[in-house]
Amino acid sequence: MWKFVISAAVAITASSVDAKVVQERVPTMLQSPFHRGVNVLGYDPYWKDVTKRRFQWRHFTEIRKGGFDFVRLVLQAFRHMGPDNRLDPEWLSKLDDVVAHAREAGLGIIIDEHDFDACSTDVGMCRTRLSAFWQQVAPRFAKAPRNVAFELLNEPHDKLNGDPWNELFAQELAIVRQTNPTRIVVVGPTHWNSLKDLPLLKLPNDPNLLVTFHYYEPFHFTHQGATWVGPEIKALHGITWGSNADRAALRADFNTVAAWSAANHRPILLGEFGAYDKSGTPMDLRVAYTSGVRCEAERHGFGWAYWQFDSDFVAWDMAKDQWVQPIKDALIPPGKDECAGR
Ligand code: BGC
Repeated sequence: MWKFVISAAVAITASSVDAKVVQERVPTMLQSPFHRGVNVLGYDPYWKDVTKRRFQWRHFTEIRKGGFDFVRLVLQAFRHMGPDNRLDPEWLSKLDDVVAHAREAGLGIIIDEHDFDACSTDVGMCRTRLSAFWQQVAPRFAKAPRNVAFELLNEPHDKLNGDPWNELFAQELAIVRQTNPTRIVVVGPTHWNSLKDLPLLKLPNDPNLLVTFHYYEPFHFTHQGATWVGPEIKALHGITWGSNADRAALRADFNTVAAWSAANHRPILLGEFGAYDKSGTPMDLRVAYTSGVRCEAERHGFGWAYWQFDSDFVAWDMAKDQWVQPIKDALIPPGKDECAGR
């Protein structure tokens, strides 16, 4: 995946002008098969008790029919490990089933390890368990096609900020590479996959890395009323989005990511975005935001995955067994794409 680019450097001497050929190694940009996606199954009872599952295999067909080409599979695997960090064989076969059914429906799949809070609290424990996870999971998919990818760890933060994350992900990548030398591996920056930390990422010389970030800015809009992010945010209501200044800030953020991508020759996946649905934020504001972010991602050629299909921020209404149409339309426009001309 490396190509040699010949560039001519001109060396000026007192007597003559010599053209000196310089060879630089630059990576060809990985072509990502992940374009429009949605996060699935992170908080579904399926993993604990299959009889209580909400997500059914036919939902993969709905997702594909709806115009998405991949899912990001959110796994909290540590709780399914025994004392020796062996993954419960039943859980592993459930994972195989999910991957097989997603593929059967024509979807790509990103297998995302999502024990990000535990990992960011205790790095030693994380190293042991995350390594055990990838040692067991990576070989199972060694022969899978290119649109099955691995995301080493969701949203590293706190104790994983800075170099501890660079060190840990290099170790996890080495584990994956033993059995999957060219598998696409998704890796993102610290502070919960914040675009601000992109410059801190130290990426190894591996052409099959897809760099991810998550976007929930402005956080006081997207998370107003959310219960899990601190009392100040939980108390917020009535915050709007959509002014010229809001849109300019969004545009500036995505331009920053695009500039980093171009300078580092790495493709980008926006792995999570959305605005919380259960605190009364009006639908038209959530739609404006969702469509605004999606458009910015597509303007720069970033793949994206909406957070999320079911549970909260939902794109699919389980009770009514149908899409939440305004959100779905903001993601996959049914007619003329509103992004054009923005
Ligand atoms: C977390 C979810 C949370 C979402 C938005 C995800 O990475 O796993 O629990 O709802 O971010 O805050």
